[in-house]
Amino acid sequence: MVSKVHRLAVLIILLSSFLSSAFADPVIIKLSFEPDLKNGQRIYEICASCHLPEGWGNNDGAYPQIAGQHQNVLIQQLLDIRSGRRENPTMYPFVQERTIGGYQSLADVVVYISTLPMHPQHKKGPWNDFSDEYKTGELLYKKHCASCHGTQGEGNNETSTPKLYGQHYPYVKRQIKLIKSGLRTVNPVMQAIAQQLSDEQLGLIVNYISYLPVPEEERAPSMNWRNTDFY
Ligand code: HEC
Ligand code: HEC
Repeated sequence: MVSKVHRLAVLIILLSSFLSSAFADPVIIKLSFEPDLKNGQRIYEICASCHLPEGWGNNDGAYPQIAGQHQNVLIQQLLDIRSGRRENPTMYPFVQERTIGGYQSLADVVVYISTLPMHPQHKKGPWNDFSDEYKTGELLYKKHCASCHGTQGEGNNETSTPKLYGQHYPYVKRQIKLIKSGLRTVNPVMQAIAQQLSDEQLGLIVNYISYLPVPEEERAPSMNWRNTDFY
């Protein structure tokens, strides 16, 4: 897992110019950081109080699993939450520059998170893989979601598209609702697709996603695994 620790290129899209004029293009700045894992671990202590030392979140989906997520996805979410573009009043104060530092600190904590193995038994939906509901969800997922999130739900680091496998079912369900209603701003194509599907169809898709297997090499060996940096 330590092999993932290399220079982290961060794309920072300054939306301010975009918001002030609908005609101006966003300014994209590419920065590159040498991650400092020790500093990442130090900052992660703040995050661990909600996301747990293992980064596994919790089964009721109040806190998402963040272990194993793509680095570019993590950094984009942190920047979006920091700026308020993605509304998250619970976490907002903990991700501010005055609390944890600037871009270097974000890069450090993101790289630290990416060394954590994923939850071995995340929360699944109600319909298992022998059911008709599961099969319909599979067809709908492949038709509407796989082109961006991948056929296995693996996402894509290059395009900052989240990995979906391994995420707790109630969390994904809640995010889809927020995205469909426009309360969470995302990629406009992704939002349009969510709006074009019925709540029932989305429910079946989210159920299917929860059964996508987490590759063994990305999973912790058992529920007893603990992040010894914090115990
Ligand atoms: C006080 C609790 C709390 C703290 C502390 C906290 N978070 Fe969060 N975080 C949340 C909640 C709640 C959500 C989900 C919000 C929602 O439902 O949209 C979240 C969402 C996220 C997400 C988005 C995940 C996704 O897949 O959409 C990331 C990434 C994240 N947190 C990383 C961090 C990091 C890194 C830190 C430490 C710097 C941190 N969080 C500290 C509560 C917290
Ligand atoms: C055009 C590409 C595209 C398509 C098609 C697409 N998505 Fe997404 N999706 C994204 C991107 C990019 C994000 C990250 C958005 C952001 O926060 O800016 C995302 C975010 C998400 C999230 C939030 C994940 C998290 O960790 O917070 C979920 C859940 C999701 N998509 C599910 C779906 C489902 C289900 C479908 C099919 C109905 C779908 N997506 C179709 C590109 C896409």
